[in-house]
Amino acid sequence: MKFNIINLPKVDSTNGFAQQQIKYNGLREGDVIFTLNQEDGRGQGSNRWESEQGCNLLISIILEPYKIAASRQFVLTQLVSLAIAELILVYLENNGCSHDVKIKWPNDIYVDDKKIAGILFQNFIKGSVIEHSIVGIGINLNQRKFLLGAPNPISMINLINKTTDIQVFLHRLLQLIDVNYKKYSCKDNFKEIESKYIAKLFRYNVWANYFDDKGPFAGKIIDVDEYGRLIMERKDGTIKVVMFGDIGFVS
Ligand code: BTN
Repeated sequence: MKFNIINLPKVDSTNGFAQQQIKYNGLREGDVIFTLNQEDGRGQGSNRWESEQGCNLLISIILEPYKIAASRQFVLTQLVSLAIAELILVYLENNGCSHDVKIKWPNDIYVDDKKIAGILFQNFIKGSVIEHSIVGIGINLNQRKFLLGAPNPISMINLINKTTDIQVFLHRLLQLIDVNYKKYSCKDNFKEIESKYIAKLFRYNVWANYFDDKGPFAGKIIDVDEYGRLIMERKDGTIKVVMFGDIGFVS
């Protein structure tokens, strides 16, 4: 894919900007909204995304994944989160850091038990086709302190103790996403990406504490199905199928 970087000196939210432009048919696959100064970044649900000016990677990539059926849109989550996790691991390893990089379901990127990156997908679906996908990515690179009360943020600089070149990181990330996108848009490869995703899953196959609308419970993540639902086992052996937003992880 040919990426076309649209560099905005300042914006409320790269996802918000992309959403506006898409309404007027102004963006195409491969367009990447980039900024160093996002003033009102959006996170999942009603969360905000904190980013100190000039410090972090903040982008929204436009995809037109017509090969992926809307019912299988979770493949996008899998391929993007794996690309991010892979690149973060490369940076850590190249700097002699032996931390574990994991994906906390569905698409938070964790180093050990702290969040280094988040993704906000907005998929525009018509019938069974995903017409556009806005893939909003925030990766904490050079910000040392987080002030807005996110539960457990961490940044590359906290881990490797040196500055990361945001442009170099961006181009390497786009390359990895492109490779994954080409390969895993094809349904013959869905099984492969599913198992790669499971292999990187935070708290996979271990008992841990969670809560849902009925209160706390002990559970074990045993799978993620093709629709992106988390499959958990309870202590009494029963199975719980979880949609995004239905449970919280207790740290
Ligand atoms: C989350 O984990 O809550 C998702 C965070 C996504 C943040 C990125 S930063 C670039 C893009 N623009 C936004 O407003 N949000 C996403």
